[in-house]
Amino acid sequence: MDGNGIILSIKNLVKAFPKDDTEMIAVSGFALDVKDGEFICLLGPSGCGKTTVLRIIAGLQSATSGELTLKGKPITGPGSDRGMVFQEFGLFPWRSVKKNVEFGLEVQGVDETKKNEISKRFIDLVGLSGFERSHPNQLSGGMKQRVGIARALASNPEILLMDEPFGALDAQTRNLMQKELLRIWQETKKTVIFVTHSVDEAVFLADRIVVMTGRPGKIKEIYTVTLPRPRDRGHPDFINLRKKILDELEQQRQGT
Ligand SMILES: Nc1ncnc2c1ncn2[C@@H]1O[C@H](COP(=O)(O)OP(=O)(O)O)[C@@H](O)[C@H]1O
Ligand SMILES: [Mg+2]
Repeated sequence: MDGNGIILSIKNLVKAFPKDDTEMIAVSGFALDVKDGEFICLLGPSGCGKTTVLRIIAGLQSATSGELTLKGKPITGPGSDRGMVFQEFGLFPWRSVKKNVEFGLEVQGVDETKKNEISKRFIDLVGLSGFERSHPNQLSGGMKQRVGIARALASNPEILLMDEPFGALDAQTRNLMQKELLRIWQETKKTVIFVTHSVDEAVFLADRIVVMTGRPGKIKEIYTVTLPRPRDRGHPDFINLRKKILDELEQQRQGT
């Protein structure tokens, strides 16, 4: 962390993928400083480079150029300081809830007592006590994503990276999981970077919304959301902000 409480700093990030004989610039000039404990939503249309940015922060993909630092150290690969939650849950079907949550701890060689203690804490935190022995195929979508969140948190990351984690859920479950995530965020005080293409979801969740445009993916605008939580989707300020962002995305689509 530097003196300004910046935990993650991204400067002039560019990502190009080879395409035919040339290359396709997927992300260009992306720059963002994220404060410790902040809830950031990365919002933009499909294909604008959201997953690419997230995977580069996770260290799962390298940047073509640019500078990324986490707590002042360059990001050069994956690490336990970042926890990832995927849309498709990414759970191991043959493992129980408890064993899924303990996966990262096993990799780190954490001893049995400590593992039990940590998995219990995070299974409790996400509201899955009593389901320790269940397997993913016995769980609803919302419950699977609770496991995904508990697993990501169990390794005690600095930052939680979430890629459209509620995209596969029905509307009601999705709204419930958004509230649950905010509760977990407030209890754990983690920094969250949450990718979504839902404006409504971003306005409900974020401290700041980073709106991206497509091809190459660039930051179009950053909105600071000052609405108090819990947010009311029916409040005029909520509706106005949602409309403003929707209009902006619509303009982009029309190329104006
Ligand atoms: N591994 C890859 N190889 C080539 N092109 C890719 C790869 N990953 C993503 N892309 C391209 O980069 C662009 C951004 O993709 P992505 O980051 O997945 O967007 P989003 O998550 O916003 O939908 C898309 O045009 C996609 O086809
Ligand atoms: Mg994506």
